[in-house]
Amino acid sequence: MPVIELRGIKREYRMEGKHLSGKKCKRSKDGEDAVIVRALRGVDFFVQKGEFISVMGPSGSGKSTLMNILGCLDKPSEGTYILDGIETSTSDSNTFAFIRNRKIGFVFQSFNLLSRTTALENVELPLFYRRREKGEKGFHDRDRKELAIAALKTVGLDNRLDHFPSQLSGGQQQRVAIARAMVNDPAFILADEPTGNLDTGMSLEIMELFQELNEQGKTIIMVTHEPELAAYTKRIITLRDGRLVSDEEVKKARNAPDDLAKWKKENILLMQDT
Ligand SMILES: Nc1ncnc2c1ncn2[C@@H]1O[C@H](COP(=O)(O)OP(=O)(O)OP(=O)(O)O)[C@@H](O)[C@H]1O
Ligand SMILES: [Mg+2]
Repeated sequence: MPVIELRGIKREYRMEGKHLSGKKCKRSKDGEDAVIVRALRGVDFFVQKGEFISVMGPSGSGKSTLMNILGCLDKPSEGTYILDGIETSTSDSNTFAFIRNRKIGFVFQSFNLLSRTTALENVELPLFYRRREKGEKGFHDRDRKELAIAALKTVGLDNRLDHFPSQLSGGQQQRVAIARAMVNDPAFILADEPTGNLDTGMSLEIMELFQELNEQGKTIIMVTHEPELAAYTKRIITLRDGRLVSDEEVKKARNAPDDLAKWKKENILLMQDT
């Protein structure tokens, strides 16, 4: 069973107003001053467990719109989206929220950590939102802490549990965010430009971590503008004008640990031991 099945996904935005002359859109049938922006025009694809996919495409091609749909932050205007066997398009708002909290681990460009909260507490947070309904069990404080520590260990930060985000480097903050995304054992990780705010070395560290997690079986979908980063994934999907225009397997993905080691060697003077 695929983790994700998307069939005929369309997303149209209805816009009122006059500021739309430059946009690719069609005029709505009922309103003189309203136009319909067709952000996605019928997208189909499947994702199997264990894939590592990048989503590429020029600005305005529909990447964020697709991410919002995949992340159950938004519903398509048309089409079906089945996540881990659950039909999301017809689900009520409770189920929709449940799917989002329980099945998807989000990683954002800007980390989105709570600033007055330690690394450990940030990672524990999603476990507080687990509901008792739907056959889920709640957690005792001790279990929650243990799971969060284990997730931080996976990202190599179990020695930074009590640090606040401001006391961590950008790369470390993003690793905390990745631990938070994983702590619920989601069906997949959805990362939107996860290295957009990071320098080369830190970006490579994140790619190394993603490759490691993927080798352990985690399914990862990552939006990126950069072909150099997409080269670390196993499959590249490209959008253009709201359509999927290419879907290619990466024959030989670049090896992030090798590239990181090489980068460190060349930049050794800039590195500080931690
Ligand atoms: N809430 C909205 N209302 C109206 N139009 C929207 C809305 N969100 C996106 N669009 C339009 O839909 C199209 C796709 O936008 P989207 O944000 O998905 O692009 P993108 O590929 O993520 O671009 P970028 O690389 O710049 O982030 C664009 O033409 C955009 O203007
Ligand atoms: Mg975008």
